[in-house]
Amino acid sequence: MRVLVTGGAGFIASHIADAHLRRGDEVFVVDNLCAGRRENLPDAAAFAQLDITDETAMRKLWNDFRPEIVSHHAAQIDVRRSLEEPAFDARVNVLGSLNVIKNSVDYNTDRVVFASTGGAIYGEMHRAPPTEDTPVQPISLYGVAKYCVEQYLAAYARSEELACTILRYANVYGPRQRADGEAGVVAIFTGLMLDGQRPTIFGCGDKTRDYVYVADVVRANMMALERGGIGPYNIGTGVETSDQQVFDSVAAATGYDGEPIYGDERKGEVHRIAINSDRARDELGWQAEMEFADGIARTVDYLRKATPGAAK
Ligand SMILES: NC(=O)c1ccc[n+]([C@@H]2O[C@H](COP(=O)([O-])OP(=O)(O)OC[C@H]3O[C@@H](n4cnc5c(N)ncnc54)[C@H](O)[C@@H]3O)[C@@H](O)[C@H]2O)c1
Repeated sequence: MRVLVTGGAGFIASHIADAHLRRGDEVFVVDNLCAGRRENLPDAAAFAQLDITDETAMRKLWNDFRPEIVSHHAAQIDVRRSLEEPAFDARVNVLGSLNVIKNSVDYNTDRVVFASTGGAIYGEMHRAPPTEDTPVQPISLYGVAKYCVEQYLAAYARSEELACTILRYANVYGPRQRADGEAGVVAIFTGLMLDGQRPTIFGCGDKTRDYVYVADVVRANMMALERGGIGPYNIGTGVETSDQQVFDSVAAATGYDGEPIYGDERKGEVHRIAINSDRARDELGWQAEMEFADGIARTVDYLRKATPGAAK
């Protein structure tokens, strides 16, 4: 099939592009390279350096390539930037996504798979991990924008103009996540520890997240194409892991023996979150498989090789 992967020079979607190529699809990647890297691009994929908000260029792309599947992952992913520059966040994450969606509708794309968030859409977790039926109460504008796009997709799906699948990822980690980014605590801690620097934990270390390994997320994307309805589907482990546990696990894997710096808590971040993925299990046949320690080991291994001068 002809598959268009937006954000495919980035962390998650470059692995998705790889997976499509492995199953024999023709892959076209669109990315403006604001956070993505050329070295993540698979050789066999076509690539255009484009901004998803560029209406003319995106239209031409659909017209020329005629994608059958669109895997929409390009986004402004920084929660804090969404609070500082909400209009910029909405321009990329809402209007850019709408550009992707409208072209998909107009050119009869078979299915759009949308990377939404499970970590930033439900707000604070008070009791058990939220299911997809738990009310959406984001505290970051990034979460608001993602939910907004879900609603556009749902409306087009209701009017039968577009088939789509919404995947709400927990905190994804693994190879190719940027160690110098604003998001991705596993990669950030790993990069700093390999460099002999002290990572900062914001708060006292008891904030929790649900860490899902990137290969599991890729599998969810592939299964969604085979069996997925609109969803949304939470894609996580249901397990809470604290910042301190991440620090300790990465320290063990890198051989770092220093202490963290404890900084102030940051705005827009929930204190606790893990998500319930029973729907993905029941409807897609998907479950997270990677053990956290193994996923950390693979991530550390990748960053050791990717970071010149890192402690071996
Ligand atoms: N990493 C996570 O934990 C996580 C969790 C939930 C949802 N998601 C979603 O998954 C998707 C991929 O996230 P990621 O972690 O791989 O981030 P990433 O930053 O590595 O990937 C995003 C890619 O989009 C590109 N991009 C950004 N703005 C663009 C624009 N205007 N036009 C074209 N390309 C643009 C970037 O250059 C980058 O390559 C995003 O939609 C993100 O919101 C990620």
